[in-house]
Amino acid sequence: MTSAPRFPRRRLLLGTGGVVVAAGAGWGATWLNVYRDRKRSNVGKLSFRTAVRIPDLLEPGRSADGRRHYPLTLAAGTSALLPGRRTPTWGANGSYLAPTLRARRGDHMAVTVRNRLPEASTLHWHGMLLPAAMDGGPHQMIERGAEWRPHWTVRQPAATLWYHPHPHGSTGSHVYRGVAGLIILDDEHSERAALPREYGVDDVPLVIQDKNFHDDGTLDFTETRLAESVAGADNVGVLGDTILVNGTYDPHFTVTTRRVRFRLLNGSNARVYWLGLTDGRTFHLVATDNGLLARPRAMDRLLLAPGERAEIVVEFKPGDEVVLRSFEPALDLGFPTERFMGGDDTFDIISLRAARQLRASPALPTRVDGAPALVEAPDGARRRHFDFTGLQINGKTMDMNRIDEVVPAGTTEIWEIERGDEWIHVFHVHGATFQVLDINGKRPPSYVRGPKDTVYLHEFGTARLAVRFDTLTDTRVPYMYHCHVLRHEDEGMMGQFTVVEPGTEASAPRSVDGGTHHH
Ligand code: C2O
Ligand code: CU
Ligand code: CU
Repeated sequence: MTSAPRFPRRRLLLGTGGVVVAAGAGWGATWLNVYRDRKRSNVGKLSFRTAVRIPDLLEPGRSADGRRHYPLTLAAGTSALLPGRRTPTWGANGSYLAPTLRARRGDHMAVTVRNRLPEASTLHWHGMLLPAAMDGGPHQMIERGAEWRPHWTVRQPAATLWYHPHPHGSTGSHVYRGVAGLIILDDEHSERAALPREYGVDDVPLVIQDKNFHDDGTLDFTETRLAESVAGADNVGVLGDTILVNGTYDPHFTVTTRRVRFRLLNGSNARVYWLGLTDGRTFHLVATDNGLLARPRAMDRLLLAPGERAEIVVEFKPGDEVVLRSFEPALDLGFPTERFMGGDDTFDIISLRAARQLRASPALPTRVDGAPALVEAPDGARRRHFDFTGLQINGKTMDMNRIDEVVPAGTTEIWEIERGDEWIHVFHVHGATFQVLDINGKRPPSYVRGPKDTVYLHEFGTARLAVRFDTLTDTRVPYMYHCHVLRHEDEGMMGQFTVVEPGTEASAPRSVDGGTHHH
């Protein structure tokens, strides 16, 4: 067993927040109370009463042209999230969350998105390699009452992806209200691998989200700040103290097989989870964001930042009961920000209860044939540097009409992502797959190497990524890269890049003509 290596901590005693602490002696005592109160936990408070909901699998219709059709209707509704309360929520094909879309490499997916929400929105296919015009980012707005029909061919390895709204400035609230779903991609290798794959039985999606509720059951949108009274004090958006799994409060899952594969998605706006099992048992990591690992890795803790996915296989004995818990994550933010951003929090996520009799499962493979190789950058690969500081990238706030980078199609580049402050930042890039080469020169733990599309930025300093861009080109419609803390993204911590024919970078337009593209 290899327990997941931790990053050595480099702590500054006072960061951005420290200035705040020192600022007003008069409210020092109040502040201390606030600080004390901000250590959150639900451990010991749950009884795991409710069987976890499993999102419906949306079986696509296949039309004469061979396309797989997925109808999605976004609408507002009311959900029974907490016992005895009704919560106004949003969802796709239901009042909260969205069905799981399943497709195979080579399939042509055709989605019809009907927007019955009270606001314009978009749907973005996070982790999918597809044409920029189908990406569902802020340039593909779907007005109220309108319909959008993106379609694309699945050209990438098996993986667990997800989809969520991405309208510029409102992604946080649209996701928080409940619009999010999983996409499971299969290929010939994943189908041949000796991994559990019966959806909802031994291949189980767990969408982990944190919420705050008012007493009347409505969602609380209050944002977490270091100090309300300090102008310009940054915040990360909502950090909830109530955990939902697939929209289920106080959940358990009944295990009926010796091994279960869990597809974990951190679908939270800002919270980072440090996941493990309460009896300390190891589990095996079999896939990260963009696909299967060639070798499953035994580990006992897994960091999952907003937007990240991981597939793990857990082994059970008859009658077992164990809880998946988020332990205090090391966010590397320093005092007191660490606490305010959830670094001292512990949350029970879900209880896993094994039946008295368990069906046999295939032995865990030591190798997964055909798993995608990690992205390697060639010698002399182009380097780009991105400074994530404050709510800006390289000193700039997102501008829908500005193209920040132009990337030659099909190339692999080294992207250096620098975290220059003490806030939670999570790097995500559309239309690409990466490997994390190193963080401040150190090799990262296996769960952050790849294949990835989203990564938590540890420590001050620089994460170097080998990023492979897709081969599809569009000189006008950009893809996004941004912080996946949704509040930060909404505040403009986002940039745009186009992917163009190699050799045409210099002549590519640097602005998005016509602004938002409507479909
Ligand atoms: Cu999960 Cu640009 O998003
Ligand atoms: Cu994305
Ligand atoms: Cu951020």
